[in-house]
Amino acid sequence: MNLLEQLVNIYREKFGHTPAHIVRSPGRVNLLGEHVDYNKGFVLPAAIDLATYVVFSPTNARHSTLVAVDFDQQASFSSDSISTKTQADTSPLPEWALYPAGVMWSLMKENLPLLNMNAVFASDVPRGSGLSSSASVEMVFMIAWQTLGGWTLPPMKRALLGQKAENQYVGVNCGIMDQFASACGVENKLLLLDCRSLEWKTSPLPENVSIIIADTTVRRKLTSGEYNKRRSGCEEAVCLLQQDLPNIKSLRDVGVDDFNRLAKKLPRGIEKRARHVVEEIGRSNQVEALLEAGDIHSFGRLMNQCHVSLRDLYEVSCPELNLMVSIAQSLEGCYGARLTGAGFGGCTVNLVANEQVDNFSQALANGYESETRLRPKIYITHASDGAELIQ
Ligand code: GLA
Repeated sequence: MNLLEQLVNIYREKFGHTPAHIVRSPGRVNLLGEHVDYNKGFVLPAAIDLATYVVFSPTNARHSTLVAVDFDQQASFSSDSISTKTQADTSPLPEWALYPAGVMWSLMKENLPLLNMNAVFASDVPRGSGLSSSASVEMVFMIAWQTLGGWTLPPMKRALLGQKAENQYVGVNCGIMDQFASACGVENKLLLLDCRSLEWKTSPLPENVSIIIADTTVRRKLTSGEYNKRRSGCEEAVCLLQQDLPNIKSLRDVGVDDFNRLAKKLPRGIEKRARHVVEEIGRSNQVEALLEAGDIHSFGRLMNQCHVSLRDLYEVSCPELNLMVSIAQSLEGCYGARLTGAGFGGCTVNLVANEQVDNFSQALANGYESETRLRPKIYITHASDGAELIQ
C-alpha cells in the first residue's frame, strides 16, 4: 500500500467517510546559493519527488482536527485558540502542529475565510534532513485551506505567507527559498530565484546528469537556534559594513572586492559568515550562464567550493556530511557534491553523469556505511511540480 492509500484508510477509520480532497506538496533540494536567501541573493533549488500529503474534508465542528501519522498523534485547534498556540482542550499545541496552525494564523491575518477541516497527513520527505519537510507541510495546508475557503492566492503569495508563519509563529527566521520551491516547483526544471525582487525563471536540468540526494541519517538537535544565530551574524555584518558602505541594505549589495578591503574591520567570526555569503552569491551569479553553456564541470566545481565554504566559513557542516561529500567527490562520474539545505546533518546533493548513477549510488552508500556503520538513504531525484490539489 502506498502512503496515500494508507492516509485514506486511516482517515476513513477515524472520521467514518472518504476524504473529499487530497493535496500533495513537495520538498526541495538546493543546488547552489546556500544560506543566501535571507541575504537577498540568488538560489537554485528544485522541488523534488518526495512530498507531504494531506487527505481532508470540511467539518462543521468548532475546530480543525489533524492527525499526524508520522508522529502517531492528533491535535485540534481553531481560529479562537490559534494566537495562544493551544488546542481546543487548552493544552499546548505539539511542535509538529505549529506548522499547520501557523499557516492558519497567517491566513487569518489576511482576513481570508477559513473553514475547519478533519485531516490526516504524512510525509515521505525525511524530517530534519535539509529537504524542507517543514515548508512542504506549510504549503500542503496552505492549499488545503485555500481549497475549503474557495479563494485562490498566487503561488508566491502562498510561499510568503508560509515563510511568515515559520518566522513569526514557529519562530525559525528562515528565508523564502523552501516555501518558494515547494509552492512554485516545475517538473523537470531547476528554479532560479532572485530573493530580493522575487523574480524567478526555470532552467532545464542539464542533459546527461542526474541529481542524487544522499541522506547521512544524522540529525543535529537545536538547529533552529544555530540557524537564527547565522542569520543575525549576517545582519551584524551589514550594520558594521554600513559604516563604510552606507548604501548597502544586505550582504547581496557587497561586492567581493569591497568585502576584501573591509573584511579586517569585522570581528573574525562575523567575517567568516559574511565571506561565505558574499562569495556564495558570487558563485550563484554565475549559474545561469554555466547552465546555458551546458558547462557541468564548472557548475560542479562551484558546488564543491560551496561545500568547503559551508564547512569552514559558515560552519554548518558535520563530520558525516564531510565524509559523504568527500567519498562522492572521489567517485567516477561525480561533477559536484555538497551539503544541501541549512546543514547541521541531513543530506548532500550530488551531480552525477547518468551512466554512472547506479555505480555511484552503490559505492557511495557502501563507502559511507563502512566508515560510519550508518546505512545512508540514496535518492535519485526528479524535479517535480509544486504543491497542488490532486483530488
Ligand atoms: C533552510 C531555510 C532556507 C535557507 C536554507 C539555507 O532551509 O529554511 O530559507 O536559508 O536553510 O540555504
